Amino acid sequence: MTWYVPPVNPGVEGERLPRHIAIVMDGNGRWAHSIGQPRTSGHATGSQAVRRIVTACRKRGVEALTLYAFSEQNWQRPTAEVHALMGLLRDFLESERREILDNHIRLRAVGRIERLPPLVRAILDPLLKESQHNSGMVLTLALSYGGREEIVDATRRLAARAVAGELDPSGIDESLFEAALPSMAVGPVDLLIRTGGEQRISNFLLWGLAYAELYFCDKLWPDMTDVDLEAALAAYERRERRFGRVCNEPLATSPITRKRESRFSLSVPEASGVALRARG
Ligand code: FPP
Repeated sequence: MTWYVPPVNPGVEGERLPRHIAIVMDGNGRWAHSIGQPRTSGHATGSQAVRRIVTACRKRGVEALTLYAFSEQNWQRPTAEVHALMGLLRDFLESERREILDNHIRLRAVGRIERLPPLVRAILDPLLKESQHNSGMVLTLALSYGGREEIVDATRRLAARAVAGELDPSGIDESLFEAALPSMAVGPVDLLIRTGGEQRISNFLLWGLAYAELYFCDKLWPDMTDVDLEAALAAYERRERRFGRVCNEPLATSPITRKRESRFSLSVPEASGVALRARG
């Protein structure tokens, strides 16, 4: 039996701010269609919304923000749309580089980033490195990302270590498995926001969303503003998070709870490959 009881983060005094927000930025295509433009123009306007919401989250004191910018399944979109998205990503990284560094944001990327084209890697890789010691908000871009794929990749790495005799399979527990998931380096998601009116997870952060509060809104991503973010934060504040318990009582200090409480150290830079974040 496992005791899967993550700590409740009280946030700023007097309010409950989600420590980690994840966003499915949906609705770019429909937004473009509604004004008779090609889908790519929706993505371009969506990039402006990314800038707005990153800034708003940083100003609000959110510790970690994870954006679903490109899924593993998105490679199946028309080539022109994939090219446009890669170009927008490069432009975003180029234009926001100074903003990211000046505001002490730590940029991370999760997903099969080896699949990204050189034009993106040329700007992404140095920025990941340059910002790795920053102590402000952690901005994670999920790129060529799929939750199932992440779990499969982690399993493969653990299996290889077991075959090499470095790992005893009977020692694989939730915390060890979690440590092999790069998306979990910033801890579980507290609040998932999905724009665009659909109510699904779409293979995003499957492990980290286990106890997340889900917030779906009809706004199309390019129209998302600070006011919409505030509405999501207000809805989060009204939720009672129980994590399988009866009510929001103080957590029992099980060994796993104690381990979890001390684990997520955002200031520890990652080594290459599997994310390292355990404090002790
Ligand atoms: C989903 O909308 C959105 C995407 C697949 C891409 C998201 C990309 C951006 C917001 C811009 C680039 C990213 C960054 C980080 C600068 P959709 O195209 O599926 O919309 P639809 O459901 O209306 O068709």
